[in-house]
Amino acid sequence: TPEERITVNYVKGILQPTPTCESWDQIWNFQAKPDDLLISTYPKAGTTWTQEIVDLIQNNGDIEKSKRAPTFVRMPFIEWILPGVGSGLERANELPSPRTLKTHLPIELTPPSFLEKNCKIIYVARNPKDNMVSYYHFHRMNKGLPDPGTWDEYFESFLAGKVCWGSWYNHVKGWWNVKDQYQILYLFYEDMKQNPKQEIQKMAKFIGKDLDDKVLEKIVHHTSFDIMKNNPMANYSMVSSELMNHSISPFMRKGTVGDWKNHFTVAQNERFDEDYKKNMANTTLTFNFQV
Ligand code: PPS
Repeated sequence: TPEERITVNYVKGILQPTPTCESWDQIWNFQAKPDDLLISTYPKAGTTWTQEIVDLIQNNGDIEKSKRAPTFVRMPFIEWILPGVGSGLERANELPSPRTLKTHLPIELTPPSFLEKNCKIIYVARNPKDNMVSYYHFHRMNKGLPDPGTWDEYFESFLAGKVCWGSWYNHVKGWWNVKDQYQILYLFYEDMKQNPKQEIQKMAKFIGKDLDDKVLEKIVHHTSFDIMKNNPMANYSMVSSELMNHSISPFMRKGTVGDWKNHFTVAQNERFDEDYKKNMANTTLTFNFQV
């Protein structure tokens, strides 16, 4: 019920769930190490998928090794406190190097240490219509986020940027603008769907791994939606059902491009396109809304 939901606060103008605010200074002052790899995304852009791919690349396609622990234990989510698992910051500090960490923070809230140490960063962006749909269903099933209201209400909140981790536009453009100044590999969910092998190869090259074709094929297969949906170490079924209720909407929901067509009304789509045009006028960044 909404009453059981956590509350939100603004951190430097960006809406954040309360667990992240309590230790905001600690998050901001987090000390990265030069060999950290950061996976950065706007929520629901393909984080978990990327995490599974990266883990397999790092372990030369060793499937058993990737099943050593759930995603959120293998690669701590630095600004989050997960019941039963604890603070992402603490988990990160306990992890031996080289570490792979996850964040949803926009560039302006990302601990500056990651940039100062010139850490490698993989950023994944997803077209905003599918991203919004995925985020809406995640709000429905996850008590760690505020109640989304109706789809129509959520549509307005998303457009206004009044959702946790802030405006999608601000996020994708913010990271896009700095990608050439740092070691940032900027990828797209739609490309990963269309040509997973090619995108996995890009990640491997970026990480500095030379994998043979057989291993690449194995990673493509093991990180396909259907396999990950049935992998308890990758599908978030290990999180308490008190927090995430997969019967309302599974974490591994559809994994497709274009599901927005089943949610947007014609009027909403027109409004969205207009708003998108306005907000994307000042960037070279473009998106595919279907593949
Ligand atoms: S989170 O909570 O922010 O970390 O969520 P995130 O992992 O970024 O996004 C979840 C969406 O990604 C889809 N997903 C996948 N799509 C294709 N292939 C694979 N292997 C895969 N794994 C996860 C997941 O289903 C969510 O998208 P939707 O559209 O809701 O299905």
